[in-house]
Amino acid sequence: RSGWRGLIEEYRAYLPVTETTPVVTLREGNTPLIPVPYISNLIGRNVKVFVKYDGLNPTGSFKDRGMTMAITKAKEAGAKAVICASTGNTSAAAAAYATRAGLRAFVIVPDGYVALGKLAQALIYGAEVLAIDGNFDDALTIVREIAENYPVTLVNSLNPYRLEGQKTAAFEVVDTLGYAPDWVCIPVGNAGNITAYWMGFCQYQGEGRCDSLPRMMGFQASGSAPLIYGHRIMKPDTVATAIRIGNPANWDKALSVREASNGEFNAVTDAEILEAYKILGREEGIFCEPASAASVAGVLKLKDQVPDNGTVVCVLTGNGLKDPDNAMSNSEGGIKGGIKADLQEVARVMGFEP
Ligand code: F0G
Repeated sequence: RSGWRGLIEEYRAYLPVTETTPVVTLREGNTPLIPVPYISNLIGRNVKVFVKYDGLNPTGSFKDRGMTMAITKAKEAGAKAVICASTGNTSAAAAAYATRAGLRAFVIVPDGYVALGKLAQALIYGAEVLAIDGNFDDALTIVREIAENYPVTLVNSLNPYRLEGQKTAAFEVVDTLGYAPDWVCIPVGNAGNITAYWMGFCQYQGEGRCDSLPRMMGFQASGSAPLIYGHRIMKPDTVATAIRIGNPANWDKALSVREASNGEFNAVTDAEILEAYKILGREEGIFCEPASAASVAGVLKLKDQVPDNGTVVCVLTGNGLKDPDNAMSNSEGGIKGGIKADLQEVARVMGFEP
């Protein structure tokens, strides 16, 4: 939509803000819903698959939707500093919006398990980055305690304003399609996003903006799938570091969403995630980060269950540029190097000259 003013202004009527709330925005939201014909064809039966490419938000992930609200409300409440635990994207978003609001941002990350682009963002936005010798779950435990005992506001998805902002992605899906899809496929870590999408669809249905509600289909990486195995994973592991989480903060909410939406949670292997990641790049021209590809891996895994003529939306939560290391190690055509700077020679390597 042209003249987009950011999601708080565009969806003000649906959000907990007043006329005097100091809106902190980078004009997030309004991300494209892109048809993916190659993936639709893999499923067949006239199923239409779209990706909600939330990697096109200002800091490159869906976290901006939650962060515009969380930082706006922190600012309104007079906070001077915010804190989060993060696998990378939350820290990038918190850092950017905190800077925008004139607040300090502390981010606690698992040392060695954050994609390079995300760390670079947190640093360039001026956050105070603390890398701990532990995983995301350890970091979250620490920041919860700190926020309880010191004058800093927690901006992880335990902060209810995060989910309020993130639910607007569901509004955009309905506004674009004109109806609610049959399935929404989402990568799940802490289960904040799947909870937020469901809130958004339910609210829109209540307002008469859509008739039906989707089934919420959540996907975790098989090495980090506590919601599928039904117990906490002490040493979560996956190539999709964004969702390397063994003890989801929104565990109970996730189970309620699954039940209320008649949804399903399933695990996808790292191999399936990387295959979907490569298909998106090579066949659709869409570059997401590995965690995001779990949504597409999921619909491909369950393709026989998708209803005939159905509409499926897969959420691509983060931009592929966040994780250059995985892109380099998982791309098929390597760089042809060592070529002389010579027209004939380049044409020969291209196969146009003998
Ligand atoms: N996809 C990406 C790219 C993420 O960064 C995350 C979460 C998720 C999916 C899962 O969303 O937690 O709401 O179920 N990243 C958090 C972070 C943990 O710190 O950036 P969720």
